[in-house]
Amino acid sequence: MTSPSGVELACMRRKHLRQVLVIERASYPRPWSRGLFLTELANRATRGYWVGLEGAEGGGEGPVLGYGGVMMAGDEGHVTNLAVDPERRGLGIATRLLLQLTVDALTRGARRMTLEVRVSNERAIRLYARFGYLPVGRRKNYYPDSKEDAIIMTVPEVVSQEYLEKLQTIAASVPGPTIVEQPTTRMPG
Ligand SMILES: CC(C)(COP(=O)(O)OP(=O)(O)OC[C@H]1O[C@@H](n2cnc3c(N)ncnc32)[C@H](O)[C@@H]1OP(=O)(O)O)[C@@H](O)C(=O)NCCC(=O)NCCS
Repeated sequence: MTSPSGVELACMRRKHLRQVLVIERASYPRPWSRGLFLTELANRATRGYWVGLEGAEGGGEGPVLGYGGVMMAGDEGHVTNLAVDPERRGLGIATRLLLQLTVDALTRGARRMTLEVRVSNERAIRLYARFGYLPVGRRKNYYPDSKEDAIIMTVPEVVSQEYLEKLQTIAASVPGPTIVEQPTTRMPG
């Protein structure tokens, strides 16, 4: 496992999909297809998909380290996907991506955030808990491969000084530089 020298967060594009699909297949028992990613990418009005690219200083066109997406439904931002190259986990890449998904959702008018996670996915649950996600319910037998339940997790209020400060604290804890592609959606802090 090597630590990236820096990470650029860029909007996911078609050109990233080959690498995204390799990570997707290594991360989930029922990976999304290329077609599903393309459909999501076509819905730019309500979706924000981001990739983390190695090498913030070199223009960020290094390999894809991980990716994530958020879908807006009214004033709710729903995290649809978040995955990191298995060789690059534990380095804060998902943390950087989740920060960016949250900023993206806030920019699009989100007041709260939600997601579903497998009950057994302790690592992801810990990550979401650090971001203030609270378990609010369960979907029984949600995952067709294993019939496992999903926990529904929510941040009930993201538009507050307290939550902004939480995001800034998390951003400050991530080592190394993070560059965000679009100046309008910079990370806090
Ligand atoms: C869940 C997942 C996205 C986390 O990605 P990640 O990049 O490893 O996450 P982070 O590095 O930001 O944080 C994970 C851990 O690394 C630790 N960490 C982060 N940066 C670190 C650093 N520089 N040094 C040491 N540890 C660090 C974090 O504290 C955290 O520790 P914890 O698991 O004990 O709480 C990843 O495991 C994954 O892709 N899983 C498969 C797909 C999946 O389950 N997605 C979630 C669907 S709901």
